[in-house]
Amino acid sequence: KIITWDASAASKEGFEHYMLKEIHESPIAVEDTISGMIAEIDKIKESVKLINSARRIIVTAAGTSYHAGLLFSILLQREGYNALPIIASEYYNLKTTEEDVILAISQSGETLDVIQAIKKFKQNGSSIISLTNIIESAIARESDVKLYTRAGPEIGVAATKTFTSQVAALMLLYNFISQKDYSYLSKIKEIIRYALNYQGEARLIGEELSTKNNAYYLGRGLSLPLAMEAALKIKEIAYLHAEAYPAGESKHGPIALVEKGFPVIFINDGELTEDLQNNVQEMKARKAITYGISVNKKLNTDKELLLTTDEKLSIFAIIPIIQLIAYYASVKRGNDPDKPRNLAKTVTVE
Ligand code: G6P
Repeated sequence: KIITWDASAASKEGFEHYMLKEIHESPIAVEDTISGMIAEIDKIKESVKLINSARRIIVTAAGTSYHAGLLFSILLQREGYNALPIIASEYYNLKTTEEDVILAISQSGETLDVIQAIKKFKQNGSSIISLTNIIESAIARESDVKLYTRAGPEIGVAATKTFTSQVAALMLLYNFISQKDYSYLSKIKEIIRYALNYQGEARLIGEELSTKNNAYYLGRGLSLPLAMEAALKIKEIAYLHAEAYPAGESKHGPIALVEKGFPVIFINDGELTEDLQNNVQEMKARKAITYGISVNKKLNTDKELLLTTDEKLSIFAIIPIIQLIAYYASVKRGNDPDKPRNLAKTVTVE
């Protein structure tokens, strides 16, 4: 028997791609994120102090990190905070002051768009909190408070475990801001592991989508940023045109494109299921193929993956599924999900 040694396969620890390996590393990554943040609790307290005394909290990031920021902004807005999510490259004429606090999120900590935005906000006198995965990254160095996700190295160009870690870190920060008990966050690891058991189901959905030219991802509330992330991921690595929309808004335009067989994937974290069910009916009436990625409550889509978890952490069951769907759509199309065309892991140009 001839044993061939493949160094790159070895470093993927038996996984076919880094992306798949890194999705499976998410439970550990999240655990390291939470313990690393708690070990530096003074930084969390400093961030909370800045946020609580700020006029506005401007959350800025690019790509996948922006979706983590959007989710965090929704959580803060619900608590009555003036949280404003801004895509980093759209910072131009935003006049911030010393009364504003900026939260910059970037896994690499090197994204030029984010660096430019925070430099400008700093000149205006605003304080900067950053959340990056790389210790003493360029963005961290520009910041007053340097928070870290500590998710470990990520080779796949499309962010997976670093996104999950960002969401976990921001959930922790949110619990401190709103003075809620955060001990339940220790369950995130188990929830992700549980969701990863549904890799086969995610694969079926991904492979079906790989045969389509277009798709909608619809969600409401916290599921909207997840729908946006799902659409970004499948664009990035499967080169499949997907658009995310707030489900309730889909009737104001996007539904015009829906005809027989058009795939519409609903993301349902369980909070707004009844409202989403109405949107499912609207899409079914146009003969769309409806998919549901649901937690705790069924949407009754044509095809539905129903997961059950602690309702406060349901978004963590959805994240690995949307990443796996994109992964399998990419592989089915014969792409290399680790190295998507035209994309770079770290974008240091304008
Ligand atoms: C690039 C990558 C995206 C990533 C974005 C932001 O465009 O291709 O996957 O989300 O940069 O990266 P950051 O390091 O700032 O989180």
